[in-house]
Amino acid sequence: GAFAYMRAADALGRIHPMGVSHPATLDLLVNARDALRDAYEMNVVLEQTLDVDDFFFRVRPYYKPYRVGSQEYRGANAGDFAAFNQIDMLLGLCSATDPSYSQVVVEKFPYLTPDEQRRLHESFRHPNVLDALLAQSDHADENWFRTHATAFLEVCDAHGRAAEHHHERLVVGFIQRPAGKIPAEHLDGLTASGPPLDVLLRALRGLVDRRLARARDDIPTRHDDIATLRGLIS
Ligand code: HEM
Repeated sequence: GAFAYMRAADALGRIHPMGVSHPATLDLLVNARDALRDAYEMNVVLEQTLDVDDFFFRVRPYYKPYRVGSQEYRGANAGDFAAFNQIDMLLGLCSATDPSYSQVVVEKFPYLTPDEQRRLHESFRHPNVLDALLAQSDHADENWFRTHATAFLEVCDAHGRAAEHHHERLVVGFIQRPAGKIPAEHLDGLTASGPPLDVLLRALRGLVDRRLARARDDIPTRHDDIATLRGLIS
């Protein structure tokens, strides 16, 4: 799953030096879409084969915050690599200028290898594909625009679908639901990063809704811009 996300991030990172209208951009968007569909498929296999109790009682407890000397470190999670956030920002679904999103990225930074940190850093300064397409809206009647915009929307759909699955099936199915069955006094330290479960779930839901470009009035999402792009090619 992680490697599939890395393939998608790699393809998207190669678009901006050539420009959104370059013929190879279509191949890169298709590569990214297919890689994200693979990531989704692998998470479905994970969901179907992993035993909920084995995960909840035997694996998860190792990934709590822990103290070394005076420093408290958070536990690891399966998303501790750059690709997720590279994809978010290169597509334009999330922005480093959105404080609650950049907080997620900044918090993750010290837990990445130097190579992954470099990748994440680079994606901050690259223009995103959604803005690039909207800036070319004068060309909406041209064939390249329609095919590239259609492929871009398919990449966004694939990213959103995998993110929704991670939340609704993995986080809810393997953490929230089993947590509901244990006594409240054992709920402390349930999450890898430390906050109480309901606080973490709200933050994770915000990430999913950004990736799905859902309409929200409390956090910035690209709902209106994605609707504009759909309208341009409809
Ligand atoms: C049984 C399987 C899984 C469960 C129960 C699960 C659950 C979670 C939870 C609870 C968090 C929040 C961690 C915290 O801050 O305490 C998280 C974060 C994350 N997980 Fe998973 N996860 C699973 C598998 C995966 C896989 C296979 C991937 C990627 C291939 C993944 C990608 C991520 C990412 C990127 C984050 C950071 C938050 C975000 O950007 O959305 N997870 N996961």
